Amino acid sequence: MQPAPALSANGLVKYFGDKRAVDHVDILVPQGSIYGILGPNGAGKTTTLRMLLGIIDPDEGHRELLGTARPRSVGDRVGYLPEERGLYPGMKAREAIAFMGALRGLDWKTGRERADVMLEAAGLGASAYEKIKKLSKGMAQFVQLLGSIVHRPDLIVLDEPFSGLDPVNQGRLEDIILAERDRGATVLFSTHIMGHAERLCDRLAIIAGGKRRYEGSVDEARATLPMQAHYEPREDGGALAAKLPADAVRDNGGYRFAVPEGGMEALLQQLLDSGHGIAGLSLERPSLHDVFVALVGEETVERMEADSDAEQSA
Ligand SMILES: Nc1ncnc2c1ncn2[C@@H]1O[C@H](COP(=O)(O)OP(=O)(O)OP(=O)(O)O)[C@@H](O)[C@H]1O
Ligand SMILES: [Mg+2]
Repeated sequence: MQPAPALSANGLVKYFGDKRAVDHVDILVPQGSIYGILGPNGAGKTTTLRMLLGIIDPDEGHRELLGTARPRSVGDRVGYLPEERGLYPGMKAREAIAFMGALRGLDWKTGRERADVMLEAAGLGASAYEKIKKLSKGMAQFVQLLGSIVHRPDLIVLDEPFSGLDPVNQGRLEDIILAERDRGATVLFSTHIMGHAERLCDRLAIIAGGKRRYEGSVDEARATLPMQAHYEPREDGGALAAKLPADAVRDNGGYRFAVPEGGMEALLQQLLDSGHGIAGLSLERPSLHDVFVALVGEETVERMEADSDAEQSA
């Protein structure tokens, strides 16, 4: 028997004025999995997470979290890093973490002890007794992240946890997410950075314009598109272009195209027979990035990636 999902939502709808920010979104997060919600700015990720957690109520639809339709009643078993970050600036890092744990029912002493261990493991041991206002933005964000999981919740919900972190801390956060999953927790996070989702997620949902465009594993997502071929002829020119699939484009000294439905054999035979030869051939599975482009368009994806580059260098 499958265990009950950690979280399930059916037909969630949320309006802000006339605007339907979330439009009939379904999500099912298996217990003990890492689940990603991917989408560009304004897609409806934060609104969806806030509905799942019971911070706001949906206008339509139904959700269950850790087996209850009243998400706030299981607050102590949930850890949440909201999109808007904020800690008391006058608190020391370890106190801030213990404080967040205390809000979720953890005793202070245990909270402080765990805070010291977690800060040390995150490379922030030297900052344990620093006030939050003395920490960099990224370090403070990391402290808040640790505070959201110090009570060892069953379900961890992180809204854009990677944004604002440098690559080293992004790597540390990936390790923490994996370790929390290995501990038995379920982790749900939103992001617009595909690399994190590709490396971490057991399953993911892609949303854009308030609608869910994809749901499944990363591998299943990549399998929705045909394999890509890169072919370099020995003899270019002549009638070569006419022999290649219609979608072939010049790329890097050769041609790139989707592997034809029946496979490459017939095409390669024809290229050999007509004397074009094969100087190079590689086949590649499409990336999550390619799937995203197919679903939401190149322009949207370029904007998302420009945003995340700007964050990293900020
Ligand atoms: N409190 C609010 N009042 C009015 N409109 C809102 C409110 N919150 C969100 N919206 C609108 O709902 C839509 C979805 O916003 P949401 O914050 O859920 O997107 P998101 O996917 O989290 O985006 P981002 O990647 O920028 O965080 C947007 O068009 C936004 O302007
Ligand atoms: Mg958001």
